[in-house]
Amino acid sequence: MAQLLVKGGRPLTGELSMPAAKNSILPMMAAALLCETDSCFEQVPALRDVTTSLALLHQLGAKAQWSGGRVRICPAKQYGKAAPQKLVSSMRSSIFYLAPLLVKNHTVTLPKPGGCRLGARPIDLHLSGLAALGASVCEDANFVKCSISRPLVGTNFCLSFPSVGATETLVMAACSAKGTTTLCGCAKEPEIVDLANYLNRCGAQITGAGGSCITVQGGRPLTGCRYTPLPDRITAATVLCAAAACGGRILLENTRSGQLSALLQLLERAGCRVYSTFDTVLLESDGHLRAVSAQAGPYPQLATDAGPLLAAALLKASGQSTVTDTVFEARFACAEQFAKMGARVWVKGRSLQIAGVRQLEPAHLNAQDLRGGAALVVAALSARGESQIDGVCHIDRGYEDIAALFGALGAKLTRTP
Ligand code: UD1
Repeated sequence: MAQLLVKGGRPLTGELSMPAAKNSILPMMAAALLCETDSCFEQVPALRDVTTSLALLHQLGAKAQWSGGRVRICPAKQYGKAAPQKLVSSMRSSIFYLAPLLVKNHTVTLPKPGGCRLGARPIDLHLSGLAALGASVCEDANFVKCSISRPLVGTNFCLSFPSVGATETLVMAACSAKGTTTLCGCAKEPEIVDLANYLNRCGAQITGAGGSCITVQGGRPLTGCRYTPLPDRITAATVLCAAAACGGRILLENTRSGQLSALLQLLERAGCRVYSTFDTVLLESDGHLRAVSAQAGPYPQLATDAGPLLAAALLKASGQSTVTDTVFEARFACAEQFAKMGARVWVKGRSLQIAGVRQLEPAHLNAQDLRGGAALVVAALSARGESQIDGVCHIDRGYEDIAALFGALGAKLTRTP
């Protein structure tokens, strides 16, 4: 089992360019199946969820390959009817294959998707939206089955919670439905706008993405295209939180500062200096932060994925901080690991309360989910001494090489084996 050895206590300095966003490329790889011709995505990091998606595409019968940061997907006319359970259950993003496989095959049986254990993660909104478009849907504990006997038909559908994944599933399905679909209560995350931009470049007609109401004129043929997804704002958040905690001066290039507003404001309130342009962020920190309280929620609030990262940065801040997550029930599984380092933390419901300590001690830590695992790296970087982190496979799902990412900023991380 891979392990990360992190020698903490050094300031972070240097420049980094952000890769394409995991949460953009994963739905796009599935959406590429809706097209009649190849799509090519640029600047794609070889994260584990990307390589899992490539393997899934292969097994379904599409040609898909990653080479030097470029993913090419050649769609087929039809796909294997059963998606392989092992791959599907290893990531949440497998759910994105439901709509494209339904449209192409007219019937699809998908094992329930896996992903980080953050509390209940139902897929009811994906399914009720597909049913509203005319699909027959049934599910049991392990599988979901959808079928259509005639093409999907445009409809009006209101999401009861702004689910990112359900919004994306329904935008994809609506592209193939006859007529107009209006989706209300949609999530507004930038990655949804990115998916709509990709599909529009392929010939779809989607308006309103980024707002709560999205309209899709469906039934237009889609032709694959070349597309560079948005830069990854959660990778940016990871590096910014680490630099805030460790001290130093970092410049992020190929980033969208506007999409990081909530986090940047909090880091400024905690005492960091932040200078940003449209596509760069410069952060300076002396490593001595003040406590702040934050609430993570649907965009444009602080991203739920950034909650544990910010919490890790605040473990040594002077005073009492609270980070609350309104999206997932169990975001702070990492709290127990923080405590091993001498942090004073308490989970209360959906909040993590933090009483800042002067110093964090190195410890043997265990990553249990993707962003919680990255938060352990942030905490270990700001501790004095060498920490060991197990469960690196969770971190690999969202970072191509987290040791190299921080190594480029002067941090000492080694991966074994
Ligand atoms: C996506 C992101 C993930 C991020 C999350 C919230 C990708 C690949 N992943 O995940 O990194 O943390 O958005 O910003 O883009 N819900 C339902 N019914 C549904 C669907 C969701 O009740 O049918 C609930 C979930 O249980 C959860 C909340 O809605 O409490 C948010 O989930 P959702 O926005 O769907 O997250 P994902 O798309 O899974």
